[in-house]
Amino acid sequence: MNVLLLLAHPDPNSFNHAIAQRAASVAARLGHSVTSHDLYAEGFPALLPSCEIPREGDLEPVISTHCSELAAADAILIVHPNWWGMPPAVLKGYVDRVFRPGVAYEFVEGDCGEGVPVGLLRARVGIVLNTSNTAMQREVDVFGDPLETLWRNCIFGLCGVSDVRRRVFQTVCTSTLGQREDWLEEVEQIVVQTLGE
Ligand SMILES: Cc1cc2nc3c(=O)[nH]c(=O)nc-3n(C[C@H](O)[C@H](O)[C@H](O)COP(=O)(O)O)c2cc1C
Repeated sequence: MNVLLLLAHPDPNSFNHAIAQRAASVAARLGHSVTSHDLYAEGFPALLPSCEIPREGDLEPVISTHCSELAAADAILIVHPNWWGMPPAVLKGYVDRVFRPGVAYEFVEGDCGEGVPVGLLRARVGIVLNTSNTAMQREVDVFGDPLETLWRNCIFGLCGVSDVRRRVFQTVCTSTLGQREDWLEEVEQIVVQTLGE
């Protein structure tokens, strides 16, 4: 299975990096081909230029490569912290530039964007691993857990990936070392259960 792993966090010593490392090593141990991108470390160019907005627009080679990897992925694994109910901007930019028409979704003929698009991704599953400092009850009651809607409906659902498994590790700022070790074990179980099936 081709597994595409995207990590968005600026600090190599962060818990997000620990999550991504554990997920990548478990997926590789299961025999999958893992393509990992640490978007901050790679300096992913996050700003969508106007020339790329049209379906047939000109793409920089680095974006074409990312598009090919996304299209070839059987599973997509995303790791990022909750920042203002959103992913870090570098990951938003990746979605803007790489989840593009003709790669991730398509409008049917005669539809210039007003209708319901057809998802094109071949990936059968998306795994989203988030961290946050807000208790889940407050996240849902006060903020509506926007990351859940964003990944499940607005991005993966729209692009044809209906099996989305999301786990939010919280509350990171008050967690103990033992808690974080348990969470990393859980990351391992999620990857084994999802990609080992
Ligand atoms: C710019 C910024 C915005 C943040 N916004 C939120 C937020 O809206 N909700 C929340 O629970 N935590 C928020 N946080 C806290 C992060 O989610 C938290 O620091 C992170 O998940 C901890 O994981 P880490 O140790 O890998 O960074 C924010 C942090 C930063 C730096």
